[in-house]
Amino acid sequence: MSATPSSDSSIPRHVAIVMDGNGRWASKRFMPRGVGHKAGVDSLVNVVRACVDRGIPYLTVFAFSSENWKRPEEEVSGLMNLLIVALSKHLIKLKSDGVRIRVVGDSAQVSDKVRQALDDAERATEHNSKLVLTVAFNYGGRWDIVQACRKAMEAGLEPADLSEAALSKYMAMAYAPDPDLFIRTGGEVRLSNFLLWQSAYAELVFTECLWPDFDAAELDRALAEYARRERRFGGVTADQSNTREEA
Ligand code: FPP
Repeated sequence: MSATPSSDSSIPRHVAIVMDGNGRWASKRFMPRGVGHKAGVDSLVNVVRACVDRGIPYLTVFAFSSENWKRPEEEVSGLMNLLIVALSKHLIKLKSDGVRIRVVGDSAQVSDKVRQALDDAERATEHNSKLVLTVAFNYGGRWDIVQACRKAMEAGLEPADLSEAALSKYMAMAYAPDPDLFIRTGGEVRLSNFLLWQSAYAELVFTECLWPDFDAAELDRALAEYARRERRFGGVTADQSNTREEA
């Protein structure tokens, strides 16, 4: 069953978020980084609710990148535990709100316990359709392109038949439209290997707001910025094409 989109084209169908700034949020309060990640979960729960309320059918969040393993062991294991605790705390509510959880990323390196928690969340919500919340976990955009190529080769795709459309079918998020709006919190202005293939035409919004401070009002600011953008997908605007016809 597919997610229910808003009929308003100024509302993105798919929002992708790099939830950055948890560590700095905690440091500013003289607290350990883990406290920031915990506050980040609360923010995520609020933003999921806000997306449901606004009729946004797809939300994808970068929960753990392929590069996050380089963090201190204590922080990595804290994030893994947090994921398990967060899912057990919020799953029932997410389920009753009509949220479907999907997970993308390389599950090979992830512990059995974490994989089990993610699998259980996916299974428990698989019949929901209001909002698809994709949790990118041990994900990297380059990994995604490589795994798609590998699957295409395994399926026997001939080089001559390889096209953007053909490869898209093997990308981890083949079930979702490409992100329309890509938000990064925390002040850094880079993609950090998130949804590289899928974000080719996404509108990028960068905000100084640290992720634990990101709420429905901040989401609305990003949505307003998105609504002001003119999306051309490499072509011309309706106005420009009229001018050309008249010229
Ligand atoms: C970046 O902040 C954030 C992360 C690496 C983790 C994001 C995870 C959450 C918000 C937790 C919610 C997700 C789940 C599903 C458990 P940072 O640590 O890089 O912050 P900094 O740039 O201030 O150091």
